[in-house]
Amino acid sequence: MRGETGVGKTALLDDLIAHADGYRVVRCAGAEAERDLTFAALHALVFPLLPDSAGLDPQARDTINTAFTGTAGAAPHAMALGIAVLDLLTLVSAATPLLLAVDDGQWLDAPSAQVLAFTARRLSGTAVRVAIAARAEVPSPLDGAGLPELVLPPLAEEPAARLLDAQRAGLNPYRRNLILKAAAGNPLALIELARSGTPGDGTVALPRRLEQVYGARLRTGPAVSQARTGRVTAQTWNARPRPQATSDQIGQKCCSGVKNHHTSTCTTLSTA
Ligand SMILES: Nc1ncnc2c1ncn2[C@@H]1O[C@H](COP(=O)(O)OP(=O)(O)O)[C@@H](O)[C@H]1O
Ligand SMILES: [Mg+2]
Repeated sequence: MRGETGVGKTALLDDLIAHADGYRVVRCAGAEAERDLTFAALHALVFPLLPDSAGLDPQARDTINTAFTGTAGAAPHAMALGIAVLDLLTLVSAATPLLLAVDDGQWLDAPSAQVLAFTARRLSGTAVRVAIAARAEVPSPLDGAGLPELVLPPLAEEPAARLLDAQRAGLNPYRRNLILKAAAGNPLALIELARSGTPGDGTVALPRRLEQVYGARLRTGPAVSQARTGRVTAQTWNARPRPQATSDQIGQKCCSGVKNHHTSTCTTLSTA
């Protein structure tokens, strides 16, 4: 699942997990600080499963242990490790279906991303499901991994307006409209802008959290003067690149029911 910052990737993963009835869920998030730590992310996913791996082939177990401890010699080949992890996931999921939910995939260490993608491409016939969320605007070690992708679009007009009204009722129509245009359906922007209000001079104040995210992009765009002052007009915000997919396209791609998520609320996911 790809989407720009604030579009709702983490919320959608939360929703997926909340609806993963009957699944054992292992969740992890890539961490920027661990991007250079080989197999750090894989460790977070696999370690919780090891206590239930009694029937695992000893060679596969050695391969996994070697990857994490390095004690038995050189790091295993990515493919050998991928096969060992696949064996482990298949074994564990035979008892209870398994969902691996990975947030902030853009920060995964590259060796973990390689093994995870290798494994994820070979899950047919198993009771294992993998969902990975990653920022669209940041290069990711999963780029080109050959996994099916959903691009999470911004909220449509009506749910965006509902979210804004739920955050801050009673805004005067001019400011309400300004925020809706400026946020362009980004839930985080809607929430932050509703909190910060508008100064009433045809601009909206760009909150610090969003200035960190969008500031660099806006400074390189046509909106230099507005961005430098920490304000952005609806026109300049809207000038940034937008995700291409529609909610319907997402629904079709994810046959397991993401459909209409972004035209309604966060509660339409199921793992059926
Ligand atoms: N469909 C939605 N409806 C209402 N609020 C949402 C929706 N999607 C996201 N949010 C809210 O917007 C904020 C940003 O969402 P988040 O999932 O953290 O974005 P991302 O992980 O893509 O950066 C959070 O406060 C989240 O609860
Ligand atoms: Mg997130």
